Amino acid sequence: MKDAAPQTIYLKDYTPFGYIVEHVDLTFKLHPTATRVLSKIRFTPDTSTSDKMFFLHGEQLKLISAKIDGQEISPSYVEGGLQADVPDTAFTWEAEVEINPEANTALEGLYMSNGMYCTQCEAEGFRKITFYPDRPDVMSVFDVRIEADADNTPVMLSNGNGVSKGEGFATWSDPWPKPAYLFALVAGNLIAHTDQFTTKSGTEVDLAIWVRPGDEGKCAFGMEALKKSMTWDEEVYGREYDLDEFNIVAVDDFNMGAMENKGLNIFNSSCVLASPETATDGNFERIEAIIAHEYFHNWTGNRITCRDWFQLCLKEGLTVFRDAQFTADMRSEPVKRIDDVIALRARQFPEDQGPLSHAVRPESFQEINNFYTATIYEKGAEVIGMLKTLVGDAAYAKALDLYFERHDGQACTIEDWIKAFEDTTGRDLTQFKLWYSQSGTPEVTVREEYNGETFTLHLSQKSAPTPGQDEKHPQVIPVAIGLLNTDGEEVQPTMALELNKAEQSFSFEGHTTRPIASVLRGFSAPVILKQDIDNTRRAFLLAHDTDPFNRWEAGRDLARDSLLGAILEGAPHNAAYLDGLKALLCDETLDPAYRALMLGQPSQSELAGVIHKMGQIPDPAAIHTASEALRDAKARAFADMLPDLYAKNQVEGPFSPEAGPAGKRSLANAALALVTRLDGGATASQQYAHADNMTLQLAALSALIDAGKGASALQAFYDQWQSDRLVMDKWFSLQVMHAKPADSATVARTLTQHADFEMKNPNRFRSVMGILAMNHAGFHHQSGAAYALLADWLIKLDPVNPQTTARMCSAFQTWKRYDAHRQSLIKEQLERIATQSNLSRDTSEMVGRILD
Ligand code: ARG
Ligand code: ZN
Repeated sequence: MKDAAPQTIYLKDYTPFGYIVEHVDLTFKLHPTATRVLSKIRFTPDTSTSDKMFFLHGEQLKLISAKIDGQEISPSYVEGGLQADVPDTAFTWEAEVEINPEANTALEGLYMSNGMYCTQCEAEGFRKITFYPDRPDVMSVFDVRIEADADNTPVMLSNGNGVSKGEGFATWSDPWPKPAYLFALVAGNLIAHTDQFTTKSGTEVDLAIWVRPGDEGKCAFGMEALKKSMTWDEEVYGREYDLDEFNIVAVDDFNMGAMENKGLNIFNSSCVLASPETATDGNFERIEAIIAHEYFHNWTGNRITCRDWFQLCLKEGLTVFRDAQFTADMRSEPVKRIDDVIALRARQFPEDQGPLSHAVRPESFQEINNFYTATIYEKGAEVIGMLKTLVGDAAYAKALDLYFERHDGQACTIEDWIKAFEDTTGRDLTQFKLWYSQSGTPEVTVREEYNGETFTLHLSQKSAPTPGQDEKHPQVIPVAIGLLNTDGEEVQPTMALELNKAEQSFSFEGHTTRPIASVLRGFSAPVILKQDIDNTRRAFLLAHDTDPFNRWEAGRDLARDSLLGAILEGAPHNAAYLDGLKALLCDETLDPAYRALMLGQPSQSELAGVIHKMGQIPDPAAIHTASEALRDAKARAFADMLPDLYAKNQVEGPFSPEAGPAGKRSLANAALALVTRLDGGATASQQYAHADNMTLQLAALSALIDAGKGASALQAFYDQWQSDRLVMDKWFSLQVMHAKPADSATVARTLTQHADFEMKNPNRFRSVMGILAMNHAGFHHQSGAAYALLADWLIKLDPVNPQTTARMCSAFQTWKRYDAHRQSLIKEQLERIATQSNLSRDTSEMVGRILD
C-alpha cells in the first residue's frame, strides 16, 4: 500500500462524500508493536450526491481482512487508501488492520509516549488507525471497545461517556456525531486528578486530568482553569457542556500544544502541568488559555465543525478569539491585547510578508499540517475581532446565537459563518470577506489636516503583492480613533472609522484648537500603520493617551525609532523616550504588568523586518549591539529608581499565579534584568538563592547568564531539576536563548550532545533548535554555523517526525531580508534539505515554498 504522493489539493475541487456513515464500531486490541483495530461501519448511499466511488483513506495499515455485509472481499489499493465495489443500498463494512504504535515516531495516528498509548488524529491521522473516509464533513457516532494488558495498561479512555470497564477492557460511547479527526484513545498507567462541574441546566459532569504517576501534584491549576472556562462559556456565549464526563490527558510527546478531541482533550504536558516550583507565571497564563481554547472548541469546532480543511480558520480563528476574550476577562484586557499584538508581529507578520504568505482561508495546499499557522489562528482571530467591531457587540452576540442554532451538528464553511452575520445585521459583507481570501499585511497611511475648526484624517490603504496574488483590492478596515486636547483630555472618545476604499477622509467638526489624534486604538486591525508624527507627539501620547494600547504603542514607536537611529545612523538613544518611560515606571496607579510591558522593546527580528520594509538590509550584529545598548541606557537612566522598583514589586506570602502577583513579579524581574547591568549579578544571585518559585528562579538564572556568571547556577539548576522533563526543557532553552551571537551555534551543538537531549521529543528538540532560530543575532551570525546546524538537525528529524521538521523550516522564511552573503548561506542549506532522498511531503512543501 502506498502513501499519497505529494499533490496539490484545491478548495475549488471540493465534492461531498457519496455515503452517509450511520454508525462506527471500533475494537482496539492494544499491543505496543502489533495493535489490531477492528472496525464495523454502517454506510448508506447519500442520495443527494452523485459521486458513488467508494474510497476509504488508509496509510501505513496492514489489512488483515475486509468484509462487506459479512462477505470477505479483496479491495483494490489506490494511492492513500483503497477502493471497493459496494452495494447501492445500505451496507456494513468490516475490516481488521494491524498497526505498530511503537514505530510511530511521527506522533500522528496511534503512537506510544513513555509507555502510554495515545492518538493524534487532526488533521489526517485517523487514516493511520483504520480505513475510513477521513474528512471532516463525514460525521458519525462512535462506539469504542479497548482491550489491553490490565497490568501495564489499567486505564483506557476514549471519546464520549464511559459505558463499562473490567479487567483488561473498557467501552466508550460518544452520542454526538463527529468527524474522525476528533477521535481519541489514550491507555496506560495513569492517575486522575478529579473534580465535578454542574452545568447551568443542572447536569453533573465528572472532570478528570489524567497524568503519569508523579505528576498528580501539577494538575490543580489546570482543573481550576477548566471550571472557569466552563462557567465563562455558559455566561458569555450561552454554551453548555454536553457529556457526563470531560477528560484531559497530559502527554509528553506531542507535536502541537493540545487537541480538542470530543470529551477527551489531549495536551502536550507543557500546556497543562504546572506547580509554583516548576512553572513560570507565563506558563500558568498559557495553560489557562490553552485549557480554555480546547474546551471552547467543544462548540466552535466540535458541535459545529469544518466542511473541509480550507475552512480551518472557521474553528481556529474563532476559538483563538474566544480564548483571548476569556483571558482578557480573567486577567487584564490591555495587557492581553498588547501580548497578542507582540505575538502577532513576531509570528504572523513575517509569515504574511514572506514566501509563506497565505490567506486566512487558503485555496490550495499539499500538506494540511503545514497550515496550522499564525495566519490561520492569530490573523483568523483578528478577523473575528474586526467583524465584532464593525457590527457592534450586540449584533455579534445575536449572530453567534444564530450561527449555533442554525449549524449545530454541521460541517460548515466561511460562507455559512458570514451569512449568519449578514442575516443578523442586514449588511452586505462581501467586501469584508476579502480578509479571508486576500493574503498580506495591509498598510494604512494617515495624514492629518486642520483648518482652525475642522480636523480631518485622510486615510489610505495599500497591500503589497504576495505569492500568487499580484493584484490587491481595498479591504474593510476598522480604524479605531480618539482625539485628545493638549491637556490630554479626550475630546472625541474612541470610535471606529470604516476604511473601505483605497483613500478616504474623515472630518471632525467644531475643534477650535487642533486636537491630537490617537489612531488604530486597541490595534483595531492587523495592519501596519504609517503615520508621520514626531517624537514630541509620541512622547505626549506616551504620557497621556487614554487608550492603554496606544499609550504602550507610543512608547514602542519611540523605542523602535531610537533603535533604528542607532542601527542605521549610529545616533545616540532618544533621551525623551527614556524620560517618558521613567515617569511611567514610577506611576503606581498603573498596573505593574502593564509597566513591565512598557519596559520592553521591539525584538531584534522585528527590527530586522522593519529595516527590510524600509528598503534597507538589516545587519543582525548591529541590531544586536543597538538593542543591548538601549537596555544599558535604560539601566543607567533609571539607576536611581530601579532598586526601589524592584523592592516594591516583591510579592509576600504563598505563591499565587493570578494576574496581580504575576504582574508584580514580571515588573520586578524586568527591573532585575536592568539592575544586573549595573551590579554585575549581585541582586540576581541573591534572588536565585532565595527563589521559591520557578518565575523568580528562572529570571535570576537568566540574569546571571547575561552577566556572564551563570555557570554554577546552571549546574545547580540541573542537579535540582534533572528528573523533571518540563523544567529541563527550560534549562536547555535558556542556554541557547542567552548565548552570545558568536557562541550560539556551539552552545546549541554541545547541548545536542548532552545525555538528556532527545530528538524524538518535540519539546526537547524545540527547546534547542527552535530557540536557536529565535536567537536572532546568533542564528544569523555571519559564519553561517547556526544555519548549517539547524539544517543538519532538520535533515535528521525529517524521517522521524516530518510535522515538527516542516514547522521548524519556517526559521528560514525571512531569508530574503538579509544580505547576499547570508542569503547564499541559507539557500545552500535549504537546497541541501530539499535534495535529501525520501524527504517528507511536509518538509518538501515548506522548503519548496520558502525557496520559491
Ligand atoms: N486543533 C488543535 C488546536 O487548536 C491543533 C491540532 C493540530 N494538530 C496538527 N497536527 N496539525 O488546538
Ligand atoms: Zn484550536
